[in-house]
Amino acid sequence: MQAQDIERVLFTEEALRTRVAELAAQIDRDYAGREPMFISVLRGSFIFMADLVRAVTLPCKLDFMAVSSYGSGTTSSGQVKITKDLSENIEGRDIVVVEDILDSGNTLAYLLQILQARRPASIRLCTLLDKPSRRVKPVQADYVGFPVEDLFVVGYGLDYAERYRNLPYIGVLKPQVYEPAASGDA
Ligand code: PRP
Repeated sequence: MQAQDIERVLFTEEALRTRVAELAAQIDRDYAGREPMFISVLRGSFIFMADLVRAVTLPCKLDFMAVSSYGSGTTSSGQVKITKDLSENIEGRDIVVVEDILDSGNTLAYLLQILQARRPASIRLCTLLDKPSRRVKPVQADYVGFPVEDLFVVGYGLDYAERYRNLPYIGVLKPQVYEPAASGDA
């Protein structure tokens, strides 16, 4: 049972649903009369993206991108590689980049630079979680679901070693799961 590895629930399904609806309403207001293109940065943002765009009522387009960091361990480095590029041309479009978490800012600093070079009309960043205390690069999100402390969070798309993404809530992982010495079996 994955739930046994969770120390405590940080954001319940209901809290997530409520906040995602608020973000969507704000995006609806900000982009009224326009047709934004949402870009999901895989894989972590896929659940947030799916819920967010279903709560948005404006006409919109969707696309997906995947990046991998050359960093090791739990911290991303400044080196990012595109492993799946967009299918659509974004020139002249109003782009909303959708992320699950903004941490050091390394991934987004790189990605925003790449996207900006393709000359969209505008780019905004929407992240479900924001860990400002970890920031290395000066990246700021335009839409933030929840600011979070520097905790090891999983669920609702966020993983540890590719697990826990399918938990319907966001929880704090028990340290013994990612510190094998503490349990002898992680
Ligand atoms: C996470 C998240 C961001 C990035 C944020 O992705 O989705 O892309 O880390 O970290 P940063 O601000 O320190 O760059 P991750 O590399 O865990 O891949 P995933 O989306 O496939 O889980």
